[in-house]
Amino acid sequence: MHEGQARAYTNIALIKYWGKKNEELILPMNNSLSLTLDAFYTETSVSFSSQLQADTFVLDGKLQESAATAKVSRFLDLAREAAGTQLRATVKSTNFVPTAAGLASSASGMAALAAATNAALGLELSDSDLSRLARRGSGSACRSIFGGFVEWEQGEDDQTSLAHPVASDSFEDDLAMLFVLINDKQKDVSSRDGMRRTVATSAFYPGWLQSAPQDLATLKAAIAQKDFTTLGETTEANGLKMHATTLAAVPPFTYWSPQSLVAMDLVRSLRARGSECYFTMDAGPNVKVLCRRQDEAFIKAAFAEIFTPERLILAHAGPGIQYF
Ligand code: ADP
Ligand code: DP6
Repeated sequence: MHEGQARAYTNIALIKYWGKKNEELILPMNNSLSLTLDAFYTETSVSFSSQLQADTFVLDGKLQESAATAKVSRFLDLAREAAGTQLRATVKSTNFVPTAAGLASSASGMAALAAATNAALGLELSDSDLSRLARRGSGSACRSIFGGFVEWEQGEDDQTSLAHPVASDSFEDDLAMLFVLINDKQKDVSSRDGMRRTVATSAFYPGWLQSAPQDLATLKAAIAQKDFTTLGETTEANGLKMHATTLAAVPPFTYWSPQSLVAMDLVRSLRARGSECYFTMDAGPNVKVLCRRQDEAFIKAAFAEIFTPERLILAHAGPGIQYF
């Protein structure tokens, strides 16, 4: 029996990853940059045993059906190949984050799976190698290996596509992110399918690709200068551009719901009243509001006038992968 356990935190991209240039290796079309957060995470244990005939995957206490298990199995194959073993595994995972709701369960889930497998098979991967491996499970997972601000270099092949921490002189500790949970049910269009459809069909996709590098450069300069206003403005603009591409896909789709628009409007009106905050959204209707940590109580209170308390979760910068 070979066992390993790990915890990984979710990350939310400030400059989004949206589109692949290689589906099999999960190589993205553009570099992305995220903030790892402390409020949502996944804990996973993996045990390989000669007694097992097949891989099994238990998520939140429920044995998963074949499609979800096959995805985990394909990922385990990569680690088995690296370790030179045929052993099957039992994977038990708990998401302290709603699954497939645009709250980045794929990032924490696949990062935790990669790290637990690394420990179970004694691969002794460096964080960089772990980031490469996690990327094969889900692109955004490569960023959850590290804490704080993290950039994913798109690279050109398996070796060169990986994440690394972005030096920030602890700027991330001045920040907070308020999660506005509009809907935590599984979404209709997964990020994988949504980005595939967008790359293949959206008339706006070239515009996205053209502007993402400049957004990234602006955001990195803002981190270096601890310039919250530029950080927020760039985050919000980049997220809106990503979501604009989905409207021009064939068939068109959107992750926004009426309540998402209500949250976005509140951010704009808070800003107009002098309370600086900015929003971003991922592949789901939930809205994430970036603000200075010193303003978080006021901003949360403003949201509490519209959204019930259980729908509001404050997060701060979180750590990288943890073994336990
Ligand atoms: P999200 O917005 O939550 O990241 P996605 O649709 O991008 O939603 O990804 C959800 C997928 O991530 C799931 O269908 C599953 O394949 C994978 N996933 C989520 N949690 C875990 C986990 N704990 N372990 C392994 N894979 C997971
Ligand atoms: C909108 O990493 O979930 O959250 O690589 O296909 O598993 P796959 O996709 P995933 O996509 C995340 C998309 C996003 C933006 C981001 O996190 O950068």
